[in-house]
Amino acid sequence: MQEIETFVSHLECSYTGKIYPADRLHGLSEAGKPLLVRYDLEALSQAVTKEDLADRLPEFWRYREFLPIRRAENIVRLGELITPILPAEKLQNQYECGEILIKDEGRLPTGSFKARGLALAVAMAKELGVQRMAMPTNGNAGAALAAYCSAADIETYVFCPEDTPRVNIEEIAFQGAKTFLANGYINDCGKIVGEGKEIMNWFDASTLKEPYRIEGKKTMGLELAEQLDWELPDVILYPTGGGTGLIGMWKAFQELEAIGWIGSKRPRMVAVQAEGCAPIVKAFDEGTRHAEPWKDAHTIASGIRVPAAVGDFLILDAVRESDGFAVAVSDEDIDAAHKECAKTEGILLCPEGAATLAALKQELKSGRIRADENVMLFNCATGLKYPMESEHHNIDLNKPIDYDFIRDC
Ligand SMILES: Cc1ncc(COP(=O)(O)O)c(C=O)c1O
Repeated sequence: MQEIETFVSHLECSYTGKIYPADRLHGLSEAGKPLLVRYDLEALSQAVTKEDLADRLPEFWRYREFLPIRRAENIVRLGELITPILPAEKLQNQYECGEILIKDEGRLPTGSFKARGLALAVAMAKELGVQRMAMPTNGNAGAALAAYCSAADIETYVFCPEDTPRVNIEEIAFQGAKTFLANGYINDCGKIVGEGKEIMNWFDASTLKEPYRIEGKKTMGLELAEQLDWELPDVILYPTGGGTGLIGMWKAFQELEAIGWIGSKRPRMVAVQAEGCAPIVKAFDEGTRHAEPWKDAHTIASGIRVPAAVGDFLILDAVRESDGFAVAVSDEDIDAAHKECAKTEGILLCPEGAATLAALKQELKSGRIRADENVMLFNCATGLKYPMESEHHNIDLNKPIDYDFIRDC
């Protein structure tokens, strides 16, 4: 059995600071808040250098010293490659702004960044002897859970709002999870999972209700730092639902600074939400540390339709500490940005990724993002999973081909 050198020292309640032991199964802390994994960063910094990374495989397990897994046999690999950073030069020229970079997470297994969190959560669940997992999802997380659990021989139950994108629902079921649609929101599905724990004896893999998904999402921050030669962008725009990615990146930057790989300069973190579901934006604008649950949540960007986030204060803390902000965009603007990026740059964003482009346009106009700042947008999933407006034309082969019609379309 191959042991991996790991530097986990303990877990810590993100709200009260209470310490919890490593190598045990954990859900939320006693205070009902997310637990964060802490490392002996001094020892970590002695064990690995930036140069060591250069010789490793181009996959996110290259950051293994920053991750909690102890035994290599528990890692389930589905091809966790390094995702490309695509420059959007034409849009940059059009908007007359600083560099626009798009981190395209749609290349990961199951087509979304959820693979990062679930690869870690499932590996840790395997290491800690879990045999059954359950999760509420807006789609992508469920797909990743299903895939990694099938590979790891862990039984899975997934609960989705009934208007989750069709492809997601089918892929979750097809990849081996018992899949249920409920006529409510993700938080209602979360209740089914939480309340079913005793009867069903499953491990609750909900966003931030277990400590390891965030460690997987942390690799986004480690990876983008390495890709940009340890110079972080001025601004990161992140489509925020439960916020694991934003919180994970923020944690990555703290750990990198602690070991001296980056300086104290941080990107301004911008949490992007949709006007139809913007609890974090409301809390940010009102100056509170916690968000009230959003009523009647709706948006075409289903991944960010999260009426209540258990890590709301962690998102808001990161946004404020970074001198960033939280912003809402309309579905019309998301739709327009979606089309604009596809047709101008040839990059098919997911609607959540398009929300970050819509937010960039909006905030360049408002002046909250300056024209001299370079920005990174997160495209969290492949655009291929989402319905697209039909823009094609039909040809009737029983009639002569009308090239004038074809040219003028
Ligand atoms: C495509 C996409 N973007 C963004 C999000 C929001 O992610 P987070 O929970 O990290 O805020 C999700 C979550 O489902 C998603 O599927």
